[in-house]
Amino acid sequence: MKEYLKPFENTKNQLKHYVTIDFLKNHPHKIKRCAEIWLEVLGKIWVPEVTLDQVVENLHNHLNDNQLPITFVALDDEVPVGMCSLRKNDGILPNLMPWLGSLVVDPVYQKQGIGNKLVEVTKLKAQELGFDTLHLFAFDATIPEYYQRLGWNIISMDNFKRHPVTVMQCLLI
Ligand SMILES: CC(C)(COP(=O)(O)OP(=O)(O)OC[C@H]1O[C@@H](n2cnc3c(N)ncnc32)[C@H](O)[C@@H]1OP(=O)(O)O)[C@@H](O)C(=O)NCCC(=O)NCCS
Repeated sequence: MKEYLKPFENTKNQLKHYVTIDFLKNHPHKIKRCAEIWLEVLGKIWVPEVTLDQVVENLHNHLNDNQLPITFVALDDEVPVGMCSLRKNDGILPNLMPWLGSLVVDPVYQKQGIGNKLVEVTKLKAQELGFDTLHLFAFDATIPEYYQRLGWNIISMDNFKRHPVTVMQCLLI
C-alpha cells in the first residue's frame, strides 16, 4: 500500500476509529454512495440539472490508479464518507492541467480532517505522476480560505455554467 493511503486516526462521537483512503477503482460498488454525497453537498446546490445516473456514469470513468482521471474515496469501515478526483480538465481553462475536483465529505463526517487528507493524497498522486502544479476551482466564495490554509493560492476568477468561480493553484514542489 502507498504510504499516503495508510489509515489515519479519526475521532467521531469521542470514539477513536480509522478512516482509510483508497482508489475508488478498488471499490466500484461504492460509486453510488459517492455520487449521492456529491449530489447532496455540491451538485444540487451548483449544478442541479445533473442527475444521479450521470454522476455514477462519470465516476465509472474514474476507476484508475495510475492514469487520469482518478478518484479517491474515504471509507469509514467500508462506508464511503467522502471523495476527491484528479483530472486532466474540470470544465474550464483547458490549457491548465491537472485539476483537483469533486472534493466532498458527507456532512456527518465533516470537520474531522477528512477533506484535508483527501486533498493531501490527491496532491501526492499528482506529484507521483510527474506534475508540479495542481489546480482547482471553487464555487463557494468562502471556500478559498479553506484551500489557502492548505497552501493554495488564488490565480484568477472564471465562470462555470454561469457561476463565478475562484481558480486556485498549488505548487507540488
Ligand atoms: C469542503 C469540505 C470538503 C471540507 O471537508 P472536511 O472533511 O470538513 O474538511 P476538514 O475537516 O479537513 O477541514 C474543515 C475546515 O474546513 C472549513 N470549511 C468547510 N467548508 C468551508 C467553506 N465553505 N468555507 C470556508 N471554510 C470551510 C471548516 O470550517 C473547517 O474549519 P476549522 O478546521 O477551522 O473548523 C466539506 O466541507 C464539503 O464537502 N463541503 C461541501 C462541498 C464543497 O464545497 N467542496 C469543495 C469544492 S471546491
